[in-house]
Amino acid sequence: MCGIFGYVGTRKDAGALVVEGLKNLEYRGYDSWGVACSIGDGFLVKKDIGKISEVNGLQFYEECSLAVAHTRWATHGGVTKENAHPHLSCDKTIAVIHNGIIENFGEIRDELKKKGHTFVSETDTEVIPHLIEEELKTAEDFAAAVRKACLRFEGRFAILALHTASHSLVAARTGSPLIVGVGKDGYYVASDFPAFLKHTKTVQYIDNGEMLVTDGNSIIFSDLATGVEKPKREIEINWSIEQAEKGDFEHFMLKEIMDQKESVARAVNQDEEQIMTLAKAIHDAKGTFLVGCGTAAKACMAAEYFFSVIAEKHVNFAPASEFKLYHHFLKPESLLIVVSQSGETADVLDAMRVAKLKGAKVLAIVNVEGSTIAREADYTLRINAGPERAVASTKALTGQLAVLLLIAYALAGKLRQGKTLLLETSSQIAEMLNPRYVTRLKELAEKIKNDENLYIIGKSWNYPMAMESAIKIQEVSYIHAEGFAGGELKHGPIALIEQDTPCIALVGNDEVTTDVITNSIELKARGAFMIGVAPKKHEVFAEWIKVPDAGPAQAIVNIIPIQVLAYFLAVKRGKNPDMPRNLAKSVTVK
Ligand code: M6R
Repeated sequence: MCGIFGYVGTRKDAGALVVEGLKNLEYRGYDSWGVACSIGDGFLVKKDIGKISEVNGLQFYEECSLAVAHTRWATHGGVTKENAHPHLSCDKTIAVIHNGIIENFGEIRDELKKKGHTFVSETDTEVIPHLIEEELKTAEDFAAAVRKACLRFEGRFAILALHTASHSLVAARTGSPLIVGVGKDGYYVASDFPAFLKHTKTVQYIDNGEMLVTDGNSIIFSDLATGVEKPKREIEINWSIEQAEKGDFEHFMLKEIMDQKESVARAVNQDEEQIMTLAKAIHDAKGTFLVGCGTAAKACMAAEYFFSVIAEKHVNFAPASEFKLYHHFLKPESLLIVVSQSGETADVLDAMRVAKLKGAKVLAIVNVEGSTIAREADYTLRINAGPERAVASTKALTGQLAVLLLIAYALAGKLRQGKTLLLETSSQIAEMLNPRYVTRLKELAEKIKNDENLYIIGKSWNYPMAMESAIKIQEVSYIHAEGFAGGELKHGPIALIEQDTPCIALVGNDEVTTDVITNSIELKARGAFMIGVAPKKHEVFAEWIKVPDAGPAQAIVNIIPIQVLAYFLAVKRGKNPDMPRNLAKSVTVK
């Protein structure tokens, strides 16, 4: 969702700095942007709709050492320049950017209007600088005014408020993520660390219900409700700038697909003792639930099969957004396993809260170190995929699948066997992703790029991968794609098949192979153009995409060619795969 980046310190190029950092948050998805620099008694504001990276000549020549920048994902009010953040107070000395929703903004705005405040946008955000301005009339200082204002707001939010007179930056958080970068030359506050990775790798986390105030020399964290100061640790993050950049690749999505040559092995590199402890926790739990959203949810679904086939253990999957309806089944002895790349997804956090209210324990499988989900869970496993910037999740998924498969093996008392399988699979992926293979998929994309419908089938763990294939193709190429369990075809979806409709079968070399081949034959008989992603060729396939025979890790290898295909379908249809319409990388609102 919205990208937030603010700076206060000794540097004199804060305007240019926040604009540059904001470009590293573009992956979060947005429709307009804005920047404010504190100059003299007020703010120099530039904002517009569209992409900030496409604006030529956006320069801040003025000296400035206090600035904010924001990418907006429209919620309240349309996509207009006026609605873009930052928003200012009437006297123009307070600038605010915001992520989240102020649910009671209507009543506050009416009240402020009566007091003479003028509003220029349709946003909920604009009440924030005006209410702070009002509170500042009686508060002891700027931070106290922001605190008083925040206590009036209902809903989840993260805000940055800047004040020219006190040359200070105040941040407050009740839901959406905020991280502080501690630099030698000041403080950087952002919704994610790619914004400031170039300047510092030392971070401090601001938790929900907390705020901070900094003038660039020092920083004070406190409890938002009580104002009581909170000491904070400084933590070093180990992601490199190179990992967070595109390098020679045209898009992050392709770079991240290629990263899978190494990232699966990194996911497998877990502390064995910890994995065994967690396997025991799953074994002992009275009811284990797996939740996630989107792609991470598909990893959870695949894990249901891993746990069943490998460890003969029943676990329950639910999309995180549905999980609260399961609360009747939760006990203090239950275990919730949450899977999330970003570690910030609102529905997943909600599911965790539901489980915690019932006294259940939570195991989080995340990519982003120090994320809210990682910090709020009882146990955390990191998938070590490195930064994933493209909206379409690729390497995070295969890392999640690898970790879940490893846990299933540990649960079955076969951790070593699982590790060996996954490391072998990792080498097979590195071989598979060679230039010839990628070109082959590019050619296939050329053949089907003008089709408007695409269906994918699979069985067992390849069934969730069929659904994931559909997500990947939909979100970047905008082709209508759907994934089904092969056996379900005859119960409805087969009616959709016409002459030359492209259909993909995800196949392994296991007990369900014959079934999926039979389903493919049924599709072909109705005219389908069959594409087989399989270790072995079969005459039913008009196109065969060879994948290694990876046994129980087949889901991991089968999804990778589909990621590449989705990427080329997007590019060939003239879409930017890194920034799909209507989507955000991290969905921090419900
Ligand atoms: O950060 P998370 O893994 O919690 O995100 C969950 C979904 O929003 C995410 O997987 C989404 O479905 C991706 N855009 C799909 O590629």
